Amino acid sequence: MKKIIAVINQKGGVGKTTTSINFAAGLARQGHRVLLIDLDPQAHSTIGLGIEPGTYKLAIHDVLINKQKIGDTILKTTVQNLDLVPSHIRLDRAEQQLTPEMFKESRLNKALQNLDYDFIVIDCRPTLGTLTINALYASNFILVPCEMSRYSLDGFADLMETVEHVKNGEEIAKENFIRILLTKVDTRKSVTNEWILEQLEPYKNMLFNTKIRQNEALNQAHIAMEPIFTFKSNSSGAEDYTQLTHEFLQLCHQSETN
Ligand SMILES: Nc1ncnc2c1ncn2[C@@H]1O[C@H](COP(=O)(O)OP(=O)(O)O)[C@@H](O)[C@H]1O
Ligand SMILES: [Mg+2]
Repeated sequence: MKKIIAVINQKGGVGKTTTSINFAAGLARQGHRVLLIDLDPQAHSTIGLGIEPGTYKLAIHDVLINKQKIGDTILKTTVQNLDLVPSHIRLDRAEQQLTPEMFKESRLNKALQNLDYDFIVIDCRPTLGTLTINALYASNFILVPCEMSRYSLDGFADLMETVEHVKNGEEIAKENFIRILLTKVDTRKSVTNEWILEQLEPYKNMLFNTKIRQNEALNQAHIAMEPIFTFKSNSSGAEDYTQLTHEFLQLCHQSETN
């Protein structure tokens, strides 16, 4: 089954975009055909893959509001096997326009039906509004990046409630379709790390074993507008995101053989 992965957290700056780009690029490097959908009006995934807003005619809001075919918005990236549906600041107004509409939550799901990719990764904006609900509705795997810092778990219960609400009644066990990814882990901050892991105890079955360490190269790669694998292949960021793709592919394999 095609996997559609929503990368969500209503908090900003937790590593959603960094994860979307490098996880999608990591899967593409393994030979899978991957589509990254930028569902944030800030267009950080679009820019992070080297594509400047204004250099393309159509973006994701044209699909959600103007009924354009998603296929007509797809751009090739410099990464082999990785395509992109770009975003644009106009997506912000599109979300407001969408809010009173019928079937507003299922627009993206409908648009994705006939696409031929192994994996679709959706980078969400930092809210739990209509766009994020569209991503949740369309997805069959949810990846929640969680920054290792004092306030990172504020709002976490709301996030889980929203996921449960949208996915209500689905047969799949929660542990199989949602995973929390710890990001910006500074191994020197052992007291903070222990405290956060304690807070996460109720969710311990949902944690990825892989953790993404704090790594300046990830920051620099984003500025250089390329994935970590081409920017600095020997960095801890490249190592961690490679490990994440392996763990994820293993999970997919397990759920298919069960
Ligand atoms: N593991 C990391 N180590 C160092 N910097 C990181 C790491 N992950 C993300 N960043 C940086 O933190 C900032 C916020 O990350 P980003 O992925 O844009 O978060 P979000 O999409 O959740 O708002 C960016 O400047 C990014 O380069
Ligand atoms: Mg982002």
